[in-house]
Amino acid sequence: MTPAQGKNSMNMPNFPKPAPLRANPRTSVGRLHVESEQSLYSVVEFEKAPFQIANFIGGDRAETQILSQDAATGESTQRVTIKKGWSAPIGHFDTDVEIFVLSGEVRQGGFKLRNLSYTYLPAGLATGPWEASEDTVMLFMPDRKPNYLTAPYADLEQIAENSAYHLNTQMNDRMVDYIPCKEINSMNWEQTTFLPAGSARKSLFKCPRTGRATWILGLVPMWIEGNFFAGHPTAEEAYLIRGDVQGHWSMQDDPFNRRYAAMRDNGYYWRPAHIAHGPFWSESGALCLFRTKDRLDCHWALHNPDITQR
Ligand SMILES: [Fe+2]
Repeated sequence: MTPAQGKNSMNMPNFPKPAPLRANPRTSVGRLHVESEQSLYSVVEFEKAPFQIANFIGGDRAETQILSQDAATGESTQRVTIKKGWSAPIGHFDTDVEIFVLSGEVRQGGFKLRNLSYTYLPAGLATGPWEASEDTVMLFMPDRKPNYLTAPYADLEQIAENSAYHLNTQMNDRMVDYIPCKEINSMNWEQTTFLPAGSARKSLFKCPRTGRATWILGLVPMWIEGNFFAGHPTAEEAYLIRGDVQGHWSMQDDPFNRRYAAMRDNGYYWRPAHIAHGPFWSESGALCLFRTKDRLDCHWALHNPDITQR
């Protein structure tokens, strides 16, 4: 069983349903805070809906679980399951899209996206043809509700060269941001900036202008963060590929009174800026996909104000 299939989905504890957000919805903008015992434990059983993008995917070939979204723009993180045999022609999205494949295999033009691989598709850059050669589970993360335009490529032979060599790709101003495929099992670990020893990261994407970033965080077993919690001036989201992250979470129903929970395989949260969280630890170690909307700076505070630690 792969991590994405959720080994813990069959014995989901009976958590109380999280209370609705208390913030006034008329003054809350962007994505709503998603952080609860349920979401941290596993999103595998979250509500499913058909996944449909005209010219790209439809019918009963795929379903989505919307983990978090800005309802006004469609900016979102979705856990999408695609059936083997799905295909789509060459085209381009009209917004930036990030995809992280949790299991399975999807071909995008000449690139295979499989087990823990990542792609960044800038708006307007030609992609495809697409094909799922296995049942595939992915995180699909568009910057807004995406459209997929195929008309400029309709008379082309549906081969990988006709997207990779297309003027919309090779002469695209956003080519510098394009990441056709990064497989995390081929990448070296790097030192993290803020966390103590036993943590490391593999960088997937970073915008030099805003600091927006996507990366993999690894934690060794028995890693501890220490006596601190932190907030930062950027929203942050994470999906736990495998392992555990335990500690003091800033739940959506009571964000300023952190409480204990354990994040497990396929657990997820999306947290607004400046909602402080932690400290955390891991018993079995962790492999986690992280995204921030802007540059990450940490503002630390003491978790236990007894600084003598007695
Ligand atoms: Fe954080």
